[in-house]
Amino acid sequence: METFGETTTPAALPVAELHLHIEGTLQPELIFELAERNGLELPYTDIDELRTKYQFTDLQSFLDLYYDNMAVLRTEQDFADMTRAYLKRAADGGVRHVEVMMDPQAHVQRGIALETCVNGVASALSTSVEEFGVSTLLIAAFLRDLPEDDALEVLEQLLAMNAPIAGIGLDSAEVGNPPSKFERLFRRAKEAGLHRIAHAGEEGPASYISDSLDLLDVERIDHGIRCMEDETLVKRLVAEQVPLTVCPLSNVRLRAVNTLADHPLPAMLAAGLNVSVNSDDPAYFGGYVDENFRELIAVHELTVGDRALLAANSIRSSFLEDDRKEKLLAEVHRWEIAAE
Ligand code: ADE
Ligand code: ZN
Repeated sequence: METFGETTTPAALPVAELHLHIEGTLQPELIFELAERNGLELPYTDIDELRTKYQFTDLQSFLDLYYDNMAVLRTEQDFADMTRAYLKRAADGGVRHVEVMMDPQAHVQRGIALETCVNGVASALSTSVEEFGVSTLLIAAFLRDLPEDDALEVLEQLLAMNAPIAGIGLDSAEVGNPPSKFERLFRRAKEAGLHRIAHAGEEGPASYISDSLDLLDVERIDHGIRCMEDETLVKRLVAEQVPLTVCPLSNVRLRAVNTLADHPLPAMLAAGLNVSVNSDDPAYFGGYVDENFRELIAVHELTVGDRALLAANSIRSSFLEDDRKEKLLAEVHRWEIAAE
């Protein structure tokens, strides 16, 4: 184990965070700060009252608060401050690369210009390597509970403004909004040279995972935990090593699983699935990536080798160029040797 000064402290596991909604990093303190800066009245008297709302019964109950809280994001500076706060905290927890999702439609719908949200987030990302040692990519996620035409319109606007996006994603209310609804959107994104990812198998059925692969040609699945209900699908995902960006604390808080002890991540790892650990919406679910690892380790036997494999999976499954992947994989290797 590496030593740091007087005490012996395990160094943070170096990881890539591949499933992170930037709007889900908006902490209650920043919500109040931005409301004051923008002269907005919040429907809560203080942070403690706001915190009482963070009890979720399912995905939709979380999404309602998540979208409401976005009201405080008005200016480029607001988006940049939120993004910078995440990058700093993520770097402290061992994140070395992040592929940040943002929800442009959620902002455009409430009258914020596309340029404001994209430029605000992108400006903080553009200095992340120098400021925090964290490389970044930006992914525009589309809201699956809105019509496909709305998503297509926003994608065309993003392309026309040359937005610095590496790919597109698909999020929001899953059940009843199947992958088949977005075939044209994903075809257009592929044609434009963009990477493609989609949430599937979080609350929705395992068939949404295979349909995302077959109909949308996605390169990664966000969540994917319900694949465990379909043995044939598991075999396919193992054979094709499809990356599944799993978010354990999110799954507990949104009641996709009962407790962390019931979480399928260890079984997924044992099955040979290409899984990584991610935070999803850390301000809402009680933890950044390092806290997801810490809580998992408290209830599951995850060896140093398992942790290194989860970290290596995250780096290999990223959209990074090969030389940065190699550098980060070497860091994981050094972490493993020091931790053993
Ligand atoms: N948007 C933000 N977090 C999400 C999640 N966990 N599932 C679907 N959409 C989301
Ligand atoms: Zn998510």
